[in-house]
Amino acid sequence: MTDIETLVARHYSGETLLDSIRAALKQSGVDPDAPGIEDLKPVDEFHTGGLEATDALLDQLEITPQTRVLDIGCGIGGAARHVAARTGAHVRGFDLTPDFVDTASALSRLVGLSDATRFQVGSALDIPEPDDSADLALMFHVGMNIEDKPKLFQEAARVLAPGGTFALFDVMRASDTPLTFPFPWAEEAAFSFVTPPEIYRAAAKAAGFELQAERNRSAFAREFFDRVLARIAEAGGPPPVGIHLLMHETGKTKIENYVTHLTAGDIAPVEMIFRLPG
Ligand SMILES: C[S@@+](CC[C@H](N)C(=O)[O-])C[C@H]1O[C@@H](n2cnc3c(N)ncnc32)[C@H](O)[C@@H]1O
Repeated sequence: MTDIETLVARHYSGETLLDSIRAALKQSGVDPDAPGIEDLKPVDEFHTGGLEATDALLDQLEITPQTRVLDIGCGIGGAARHVAARTGAHVRGFDLTPDFVDTASALSRLVGLSDATRFQVGSALDIPEPDDSADLALMFHVGMNIEDKPKLFQEAARVLAPGGTFALFDVMRASDTPLTFPFPWAEEAAFSFVTPPEIYRAAAKAAGFELQAERNRSAFAREFFDRVLARIAEAGGPPPVGIHLLMHETGKTKIENYVTHLTAGDIAPVEMIFRLPG
C-alpha cells in the first residue's frame, strides 16, 4: 500500500462495522441473521443518492447474466449485490479497506448472494484481476481518494475486454473555492483528490477510452439531501440503519460540509460512461 492508500483505508476502517449493522437491523425490527437485500440498502450504498443513484447509472447500461462485472472500490458491497440481484450477472468487487471487504462478504452470505458476488482486498491502481477479464467496470464515489487518475484509467482499460464499458459516479470539482473538511471520503485534504471532469476525460482518453455519456447530478443530489434531511429532522434523528454507521464520530459534519459545498456549486456528483473500442 502507498502512504495515501494507508490513510484512506484507515479513514474507512471500522473493526466492529458488521456488529453495528447487525445491531441496527435488529433495532429496526429486521432479523440480523436473515435480512433481505433491501434491508441493507440504507447502509450499503455509500454514495450520493444511494440506491436511486445506482439505478440511475445502471439504467444507462446493458447488463445480462453473462456480463462479467467488476466493482472498483466496492465498499461493503451494496452496488455489487444490487447488480447481481437485478441482472443475474456475477459481480467481482475489490476495495482498499479490509474491514469493508470482510463486511461485504459477510453481508452477501446473510442475504444468500455469496455465489453471485465475490469480494477481495485490492487497489484500483493495481487491480487484482487479469487482463481482459471484465466487460463492465463500475465505480461509485472512489475517485475522490485517488490522486493518479491516469493510472486508474490505465488499470481499468487493462482489465476490461475490447468493447468494455467503464461507468463511474464520482464527486468532482466545480469551482476554485477552498473546501472545508471533513467530507465523507476524507477527514482531511491529505487524501482527498476531488478534480474537475476534464481531468477524468483526459485520463480516460489517454488510456484509450471514448466518452459515451456524461451527466451532472447536482440537482438530483440537492433534492435527495433536502428529502433525506427533512425526514431525519422530522424523526428527531437518523433511522438505525444508515450510512452514519460508516462515517464515525464526524459523520454529521461530513454530510453538512458536503451539502454546503454542493449547494454552493463547489463540488458536483457526476456520472461518466466510457467505452473501449471493440
Ligand atoms: C465513499 S466509499 C464508496 C464505496 C462503494 N463504492 C459504495 O458506493 O458504496 C469509497 C470507497 O473507495 C475505496 N477506495 C478508495 N481508494 C481506493 C483505491 N485506490 N483502491 C480501491 N478502493 C479504494 C474505499 O476503501 C471506500 O470503500
